[in-house]
Amino acid sequence: MENKAATSEETAFDEIKSFFDSAPPLKDGDGIVKKLNGFLEKNSLPTRIGSKRVVCVTSGGTTVPLEQRCVRFIDNFSSGHRGSTSTEYFLKAGYSVIFLYRRGSYQPYCTTLPDDPLLECFEITNESDVQVHPSHSDAVKKAIGEHQAAVKGQNLLKLPYTTIFEYLQILQLIATSMKTLGPYAMYYLAAAVSDFYVPWESMAIHKIQSASGPLDMRLAQVPKMLLVLRNDWAPKAFFISFKLETDMDILLKKAGNALRKYKMHAVVANELLTRKEEVTVVTTDGNISVRRDKAKGVTDVERPLIELLVEKHSAHIEDSRNQQ
Ligand code: PMT
Repeated sequence: MENKAATSEETAFDEIKSFFDSAPPLKDGDGIVKKLNGFLEKNSLPTRIGSKRVVCVTSGGTTVPLEQRCVRFIDNFSSGHRGSTSTEYFLKAGYSVIFLYRRGSYQPYCTTLPDDPLLECFEITNESDVQVHPSHSDAVKKAIGEHQAAVKGQNLLKLPYTTIFEYLQILQLIATSMKTLGPYAMYYLAAAVSDFYVPWESMAIHKIQSASGPLDMRLAQVPKMLLVLRNDWAPKAFFISFKLETDMDILLKKAGNALRKYKMHAVVANELLTRKEEVTVVTTDGNISVRRDKAKGVTDVERPLIELLVEKHSAHIEDSRNQQ
């Protein structure tokens, strides 16, 4: 039995290695490492109660390019609302946040602004000056104030990605940099990550021509990175992954499987249509339903969710200390 598990883990590591070996080189990898190291130097100083906590929040959906000079791509659904709103609550709870987000998706402190903020938030006055439209003034002031506080305090580092290759390469750099934080590090993996991709070396270089008729394409499976992330890249960190389904009947079962298979500390199970109202936090101690309660003035489900996860992270840190 043990041998079987070891073999499947070895296969997973081989698949992950070949994914990285064949991926296109990451643009400005050195620059990203420099930003990460600078950020962590400022944010991992010891405090009265141990080290400062740092969470890596992943957000938005990864793309799978179909051509090297990419015109067409396969996308994964995620607006980035979950990741960006959660980032705000983590910052409020005193965490420093590395926000790994899809370019163009929702940003922290911007989720309450209109979708086309520049055009809708401002107006030209009679004196030809530009001013914030009164109907958006409170939302804009709040967004600017809170965002500036986070950026000034150097508690928020934003790193963008577009493709599955960039996402996984940057996630690996983050994990390498955060390894020294041990149990004080948390991973909150809300991004919707592609399960299938076209390997770079078998990808068409130029735009695929429609004149050639119907397109037959074989997609390879993206290796599950949770396994290597949890076991190898960040063995002491606290891990939250997500499970999205559209069929309630299989959601909790699949979340439970992910919890055991990838040794997550919790899996947040959500259904597509109700994801902003309710999630279920699946743990080895049981399932906890978390809802947004408008009657109590709780506008986002992320608020009680982050409160719960911060508590569980504290217990994880305590356990790790006791084991030393
Ligand atoms: O952004 P919003 O519009 O607010 O929506 C939020 C959300 C619904 C996208 C979010 O709450 C959510 O559920 N995100 C995860 C959705 C998902 O892609 O699930 P999955 O079954 O593909 O992956 C499960 C976990 O495995 C994820 O934590 C992912 O990071 C990880 N994974 C996935 C594929 C892969 N090859 N390697 C991985 O590690």
